[in-house]
Amino acid sequence: MATRTQSRQSNRATSNRSSSPRPASSQSRSRDSRSAFSWGDGAGPVIAAALGGVAIGLAANYGRKALMQGMEAAVGDWDEILSAEHDVGLAVFDKMLATDESQTFKRKMLLMKLTHALDKHAHQEEMVVYPALREANEAVDADHLEGEHGYIKTFIYDLNEMGPDASNWLEKVREFRALVSKHAHMEEEQVFPRFKQALSEEQNARITSLVNRDGFWMA
Ligand SMILES: [Fe+2]
Ligand SMILES: [Fe+2]
Repeated sequence: MATRTQSRQSNRATSNRSSSPRPASSQSRSRDSRSAFSWGDGAGPVIAAALGGVAIGLAANYGRKALMQGMEAAVGDWDEILSAEHDVGLAVFDKMLATDESQTFKRKMLLMKLTHALDKHAHQEEMVVYPALREANEAVDADHLEGEHGYIKTFIYDLNEMGPDASNWLEKVREFRALVSKHAHMEEEQVFPRFKQALSEEQNARITSLVNRDGFWMA
């Protein structure tokens, strides 16, 4: 264990057409005047509703991201945010290890949750922290850590392939947890503190801002 880590749109055009049909000649004239790509009568409100739905969906997603990342942004500096994420990930592992073979749905859901959490976390490190480490002549550690992220993805691949009712599922999760725990320890106890110590206040704030921004888009 690491030390810390929708709109209902009434189809008025359709109902109007069925309750007061226009003369056939009008209908055919209307039909003839349409291009092959015409949206047809009443499409405007439908398109507007669809666009409205998209806007609502985007706003909801934006709000969700803001909420998720806002909670993390409140944690503190980049290294504290990443450590808190380690703790969240390891707690999911513990829930996985408390399941039995009959709990296949729960195992699938927990693996999905873990995959999303680790994916977001790795993206923040690979797009911000590790590049910053390389820029600070810490390429050996950055490459080692990024290499381990590859094996973390391999564990996720293996677990998805073996299925949640496999007899060795728990054993695989245990090995997976050990790797993530060791990796998180190295980051929290060696690499991050040493790197942070060499950063100016401005550089530290910049990395925190970039980690938060990357995490927002990945949330
Ligand atoms: Fe990492
Ligand atoms: Fe990490």
